[in-house]
Amino acid sequence: MSTGYPDLDALLPRLEAIPTLGPDALEAEHTAMLGRKSGALTAALKTVATLPVEERKRFGAAVNQLKTRFEEAFAARSAALDAERRRRESAGVDLTMPGRRRWTGAEHPVTRVVDEIVGIFRELGFAVATGPEVETEWYNFLALNFPPDHPAMDMHDTLYLDAPAAVEEGRHSGGKLLLRTHTSPVQIRVMHAAPPPVRVVMPGMVYRNDAMDASHLPAFSQIEGLAVDEGISFVDLKATLNHFAYRFFSPVTKTRFRPSFFPFTEPSAEMDVECQLCHGTGCPACKGTGWMEILGCGMVHEAVLENVGLDPERYTGWAFGMGPHRIALLRYGVPDIRLLLGGDMRFLEAVGRPGRTDP
Ligand code: PHE
Repeated sequence: MSTGYPDLDALLPRLEAIPTLGPDALEAEHTAMLGRKSGALTAALKTVATLPVEERKRFGAAVNQLKTRFEEAFAARSAALDAERRRRESAGVDLTMPGRRRWTGAEHPVTRVVDEIVGIFRELGFAVATGPEVETEWYNFLALNFPPDHPAMDMHDTLYLDAPAAVEEGRHSGGKLLLRTHTSPVQIRVMHAAPPPVRVVMPGMVYRNDAMDASHLPAFSQIEGLAVDEGISFVDLKATLNHFAYRFFSPVTKTRFRPSFFPFTEPSAEMDVECQLCHGTGCPACKGTGWMEILGCGMVHEAVLENVGLDPERYTGWAFGMGPHRIALLRYGVPDIRLLLGGDMRFLEAVGRPGRTDP
């Protein structure tokens, strides 16, 4: 190009850069090149008319050719940017994919077992009571007729607290503080609270100094039951607990009562239900016996009634204690109690789906 005229070759690097421009830079460059007022090529075209005739034709053709190349480059880049944007917008949206089902929760199997057990007893006219998890030795043991230092206290591997017991008013403040080893101390609190007739179930957590394994947890649930009135006998105990087993397991579930010992009941028994896995024929879960123990029970010991100021000549009662964690294992055929704490969604979904294992 001759000196004195716009240097078209100087524009070539800008032509080559067009395929690298983003949307905003592309628009700015388009204006800079082809804008009506200040576009470089527009200006170059305007100079054509001022040139000597012999130059005019050659230079005019060169400017027009370059203008066409710019226009093509702008159009190509613009189309490429459009295609890229469309691809990005549709990425990750696969209209043929199945929809995601909304996650719905379900009750934890132990919560469900507790609610069902409490519900069955409520229908029989039992009220619900709770008590503190931190107890004194008096409520947890002594009021329940555990003699001080009696070996029976070793049955409960107790977690004692370092903190000294706050001195409460009255005679029931006694002894060290501990995490209750069973829900039986709530029996004492309930009998203190109101005179008979008493019909109460008492759910709650209890604590023992046990190592965790397939069948033991250091913290687990219990449900205590207590009925105290005039004229209550072992017949009431058996009839009520059998009714419970029929309702909770199935109307054809066999039960049996075996003699046992608890300091706070006399006589005492353990209640078994027919193994829910093999239905009595014997399997590893019931160690071949065909039975599964579900609770301890008995007639409230005279000494316990006396400890809460009730006359054993006038009142009698029966009590039971069962473990919903254990019962959940029996009912859902869970091989390891730790699964109940694990938060494994596959397990919880399998046992937690309402109605799934209902009879
Ligand atoms: N408290 C007893 C235990 O934890 C169970 C029980 C409660 C037994 C009430 C008899 C009466 O093993």
